[in-house]
Amino acid sequence: MITRRGALLAALASALARAQGGIEKLLSLYDFEGEAHTRISPAAWDRIAGGAADELTLRWNREAYDRLRLNPRVLVDVSKIDTRVNLLGAELPFPILLAPTGGQGFIHPEGDVAAARGAAAARATYVISSSASMPVEDIAKRAGGTVWFQLYVQKDRGFTRELVRRAEDAGCRALCVTVDSPTFGMRNREARSSGQLPARQLPNLQGRDYLDPSLTWKDIDWLRGFARRPVLLKGILNPDDAVLAVKAGVAGVIVSNHGARNLDTVPATIDALPRIVEQVAGRVPVIVDGGIRRGTDVIKALALGANAVQVGRPYLWGLGVAGAEGVTRVVEILRKELELAMALMGRPTVKSIDRSALWG
Ligand code: FNR
Repeated sequence: MITRRGALLAALASALARAQGGIEKLLSLYDFEGEAHTRISPAAWDRIAGGAADELTLRWNREAYDRLRLNPRVLVDVSKIDTRVNLLGAELPFPILLAPTGGQGFIHPEGDVAAARGAAAARATYVISSSASMPVEDIAKRAGGTVWFQLYVQKDRGFTRELVRRAEDAGCRALCVTVDSPTFGMRNREARSSGQLPARQLPNLQGRDYLDPSLTWKDIDWLRGFARRPVLLKGILNPDDAVLAVKAGVAGVIVSNHGARNLDTVPATIDALPRIVEQVAGRVPVIVDGGIRRGTDVIKALALGANAVQVGRPYLWGLGVAGAEGVTRVVEILRKELELAMALMGRPTVKSIDRSALWG
């Protein structure tokens, strides 16, 4: 006789099997995008997928990668592929980090913790957003892997200092100060449907008006004065700012246009990267994000001088499809694609990926 409890368990088991079977069938990050679109609420989808204004930069972030062509070598021993890199004194098994994103509570009930745990299971560094929907301590402690913290400097500098201390005490190994956001961008797509979303929880920030348009280089000096972890600047696009960043003594720069969500018609980040790499001249690591969807994109970024890359939306797709497990799978697919591309390129180590990996 099948008891009610037995029937319930069987139904749960088959739902789980279906869900697991489903995730196995998703072979690329784009497969996850398509699947996530069907599962995430339309308003939350617009929030993730949208960019600023006419979304020209959003398109360019992708098109710029598609335009670049690879230049493989043959008859190179690629029986061992080594994706390891050293970043800020720590060894990463592969040069892919998860970029900070807020609003994950709209995508999955476990939100930021699920994302951080999914990243840890794939051995990827996870950058906790200031605008996470859970306190930084909860995410960092439950993540189980390496985490960094992204900081929006608050108008109240005392509060900011305390937030930095909390993030450091919670185990965040680096601080990424977002410097491309004196204000939010003109996010038309998001605004059209935002009325359908509940109010966002922002337990790490002071109220809803959390960007400070008065932020300048002096504040970076101030922050470096008390930070106990390396400070990186996120959102550098102009090579002149990269020069000032190095002069200011930061530990790294993140070339980013905020996933094309802030100022429309700025260049694709992969187009901005070479000039920044040239100015930084190896003095600090350079990380790039925006539009990375394939292992071949990672190769292109490394070829143009990035030390590592970050992905944003793709792991949110994973989160929407299958929580932590979906995030892990997204990272594993990207990592696998990178390994295959390195073998097919005749570049078995990250060091061997230089400008000559690109055609022309
Ligand atoms: C972001 N991004 C972002 N950046 C940041 O510094 N703090 C934040 O809280 C957020 N929040 C956020 C939410 C959502 C929904 C998105 C899509 C992006 C930008 C993010 O860190 C990263 O720069 C981009 O997402 C990288 O581009 P791709 O990989 O999404 O194309």
